[in-house]
Amino acid sequence: MEIFKQIAPFKAFLKGAKLAGKTVGLVPTMGALHKGHISLVEASKTQNSVTVATIFVNPTQFNNPEDLKKYPKTLDKDVALLEKVGCDAVFCPETEEMYDQPSRLKFDFGHLDKVMEGQFRPGHFSGVALVVSKLFNIVEPHHAYFGQKDWQQFAVIKTLVEELKFGLELHFVPTMREADGLAMSSRNLRLDEHQRAHATIFYKALSYAREALRSGQAVAEVKQRVRSMVDQEPGMRLEYFEATDSKNLTVLDNVKDAGHVILCIAGHAGEIRLIDNLFL
Ligand code: PAJ
Repeated sequence: MEIFKQIAPFKAFLKGAKLAGKTVGLVPTMGALHKGHISLVEASKTQNSVTVATIFVNPTQFNNPEDLKKYPKTLDKDVALLEKVGCDAVFCPETEEMYDQPSRLKFDFGHLDKVMEGQFRPGHFSGVALVVSKLFNIVEPHHAYFGQKDWQQFAVIKTLVEELKFGLELHFVPTMREADGLAMSSRNLRLDEHQRAHATIFYKALSYAREALRSGQAVAEVKQRVRSMVDQEPGMRLEYFEATDSKNLTVLDNVKDAGHVILCIAGHAGEIRLIDNLFL
């Protein structure tokens, strides 16, 4: 596996691959890789002759400086994992390589970046869109892979690709979970034993909500029950639970006759912020 820290040699490698007629799949990550990330690499490998992963903890998408400082970094382990799964190249630049000047660009996705994560993490999706645009321009992949776990991020990136005419195909890959249902996340590394045991409540609450809504219970009642389920769990705190249209993220008060609905949850285990979702 080739490892690049600089844009120029990475682009030269990609140019060579494309000239040889190869299709390129891109998997952007912030490292601290787990099986969820690896499933994106595997999805890319089934559809492309060359798969590249990127590892870059993007400062512009962190609205909380403490969260950025504490974001887990396990580069050597990540590289070994990518090598093992048969990733062809990894790009892991320093901050200065990606941000050689302070950025003045801001993205506004309207409603898509105002609800849910947008409300609780102002500026987050602008930073995501900025770095993902940079990566799309550097790599010019044929396909790019993102996780369902960050569904709102996927919706934002879909809009980015459509509006800016990035000529690539986007794919989302279902969420990989631990045996007890907890969605895999790099931030899980920061949970202590007690928090880890209780953090499964987010998946339990989502599963309860899915069953309750399927059997016709009202959204308002389900929301109330989800809040009390999470808030009663020791050390856990709910930020939001919403039933939304999966395409435009319209918040729904009623899921009857709605098209594709996704249930989204976010909250804290101690100071660690976790998100998850399930399709209805
Ligand atoms: P990161 O949190 O490292 O996630 C990288 C990719 O892995 C994202 O597309 C995310 O949705 C996916 N992923 C995370 N957990 C997953 C799981 N349990 N199952 C399946 N896929 C999962 O998301 C980011 O980084 C950044 O915002 C990024 C897009 C790289 C831009 O900086």
